[in-house]
Amino acid sequence: MDVISLDDPTDAQIGQWHAVLEAVHAGDPAGEPAPAREQTAEHLLGAPHQRLWAAVEGGEAVAVVVLRLPGGPGADRPGEIDIRVHPAHRRRGLGTRLMAVAAEGLRADGRTSVIAQVLAGTPAVPFLESHGFVCVLTLSGLLLRLDDLPPDRVPALVAAGPPGYRLVRWRGSVPDRYADALARAKHAMADLAEYEGLPWNARRVREMADMVAKRGDDLYTVAAVQGSTVAGFTEIVVPAEAPERAAQYDTAVVPEHRGRRLGIWVKAAMLRWLATERPEVREIETDNVGDNAHMLAVNEELGFRRQRESREYQAAARDLPSIHRSPL
Ligand SMILES: CC(C)(COP(=O)(O)OP(=O)(O)OC[C@H]1O[C@@H](n2cnc3c(N)ncnc32)[C@H](O)[C@@H]1OP(=O)(O)O)[C@@H](O)C(=O)NCCC(=O)NCCS
Repeated sequence: MDVISLDDPTDAQIGQWHAVLEAVHAGDPAGEPAPAREQTAEHLLGAPHQRLWAAVEGGEAVAVVVLRLPGGPGADRPGEIDIRVHPAHRRRGLGTRLMAVAAEGLRADGRTSVIAQVLAGTPAVPFLESHGFVCVLTLSGLLLRLDDLPPDRVPALVAAGPPGYRLVRWRGSVPDRYADALARAKHAMADLAEYEGLPWNARRVREMADMVAKRGDDLYTVAAVQGSTVAGFTEIVVPAEAPERAAQYDTAVVPEHRGRRLGIWVKAAMLRWLATERPEVREIETDNVGDNAHMLAVNEELGFRRQRESREYQAAARDLPSIHRSPL
């Protein structure tokens, strides 16, 4: 078995990578939907700041790993790791071997920690725990099927907006006049900000929007504004390749504006906008932090239903396996 770096993959290598993802999906159809081949190609070629390796046997890729290095070389943020092993090749140490290779990349970039997002109840949990990862966040996966929404729910919620606020919305990067205010509102997601250990500022807000645009996906934002303050906002991303299922990104209400139903208001306004702007969207998926009862209640009132639980795991880079100690 060889591990090869695929930082500039050929078309044939993209095909092999995609075949591993398809096999992983076929082995666990309840997991993430299998991407289309073009999506795989886009993620491998288009996403910035990532490194790729494949474990190859008999000329075929049997396991793959993506190491994302958000913020670019040497940034003071955790790396993100995603390992996929073909179901026919598991429990032979391939996952551990790719973890060791990615760990070298992580340490070489000066990162001190790494995170991985996985589904509860899958082999990923004992795998990561066997490598010293600890669960730092539990997320409930929720899905809203727009066809199941009673027709009067969204108009009623939009009409019930609190006095003193107005709705603004934009597609793509934030307009200059709201950039700093949006960054301040992103601080409202205190748990997440602390967890990422990095303050939000206008530059980081734009960096996130650029990343979505580079993938070819569309970012939509609806905000509740009072004067020049963004009191609350919600973001949705419609993927280019599979626009039927949009993804909820951040939603937050600034602490001093909480308790006025701004969260549900901006979310309802987003649904109304998407219905005209992107009628092909049929479902919206979202993750809620396990102990965020308030946001769960908002989502359940809107019509989201619980699907699955995912977990974020974290480990210190120095505790990860080394290629010199890896079994293969
Ligand atoms: C999780 C995954 C990457 C593990 O790959 P793998 O090559 O089977 O892992 P390894 O052989 O290196 O396993 C190392 C250790 O992890 C633990 N482990 C791995 N799979 C396990 C399972 N199904 N049940 C219990 N423990 C398991 C064991 O301690 C194992 O050591 P052992 O075989 O000596 O008991 C693989 O199952 C996979 O691709 N799953 C789907 C995608 C995914 O969820 N990826 C995780 C994102 S980081």
